[in-house]
Amino acid sequence: MAENTFEKMNIQWFPGHMTKAQRMIEENLKLVDAVCELLDARIPRASRNPDIDRLAGGKPRLVILNRTDLADPAVTARWRRAFEAQGLAILETDAKSGRGVKDFAPAVRRLLADRLREYEAKGQSGRALRVMVLGIPNVGKSTFINKVAGRKAALAGDRPGVTRGRQWIRIDAGLELLDTPGILWPKFDSQEVGELLAVTNAIKAEVLDRETLAANFILRLSRLYPDALRERYKLEPDPGADGFTLLERAAQKRGFLVSRGEYDLERMANTLLSEYHDGKLGRLSLETPDDGIVDDRK
Ligand code: G4P
Repeated sequence: MAENTFEKMNIQWFPGHMTKAQRMIEENLKLVDAVCELLDARIPRASRNPDIDRLAGGKPRLVILNRTDLADPAVTARWRRAFEAQGLAILETDAKSGRGVKDFAPAVRRLLADRLREYEAKGQSGRALRVMVLGIPNVGKSTFINKVAGRKAALAGDRPGVTRGRQWIRIDAGLELLDTPGILWPKFDSQEVGELLAVTNAIKAEVLDRETLAANFILRLSRLYPDALRERYKLEPDPGADGFTLLERAAQKRGFLVSRGEYDLERMANTLLSEYHDGKLGRLSLETPDDGIVDDRK
């Protein structure tokens, strides 16, 4: 993709409301005991805000790998170990079904055990722990928070200094969450990060050319999960083929013919992206802790 197109995408990816959201996060940090980062388990690196160390300002952190139902379990286990090796607390969830969510409150209490003891020593043992929840758009933040809060969901009301409209969500007598708007960051490290965010629906795929996105994606899958492509689209491995060729072959197998000998790549692009989104290709992770390549796990 031409460089100027990529720059244009960067502008669209960081509209004014994102700057405002970032400011809101910075202003409210002083009110919380810990920061919880929700990541997409399929792309934990690309879905992680590179500014998080600065943004979190030294607060204890809990990393949540969400959408584990769509991710490769072996790769998720490797991510868990990699985050733990960095000293981060970690939880795996599927917020849609609720799997793993019940472990959230105990994990926060473990993370903040010192803080709880401090409160107790000061005679404030009833004081609630407060956790800010961060994540990129569409990572499942609302679903996660609703599942954690369950039926008991209640707004705990505004606190002094909290930007108006911010919501504190009471989980139980001892735990409150501060929801934040999903944010992206001004510049992605690479076009690859942008593409990973697009194929996992964190950003609107419309900002990219769908066919190029799908061609690059099918090429990635052919390296990472050739069996999934064989099973779903009857594609035989062909290390020499480029992404458009693979897309065209898949269109051919599906019978997406436009005219004699010409296949509908746009339709195939949309099919591939929506089938990946729906998990129809299987549980496929797109990054590993080492290098983003999964083929060394076999
Ligand atoms: P957000 O607040 O971070 O923006 O995300 P939100 O909770 O609205 O979730 C976005 C979509 O992702 C929702 O689906 C939600 O059901 C889905 N989702 C959240 N967590 C998980 C998970 O762990 N696994 C799976 N498979 N899906 C999850 P939606 O509204 O139907 O949108 P979409 O599925 O078409 O993207």
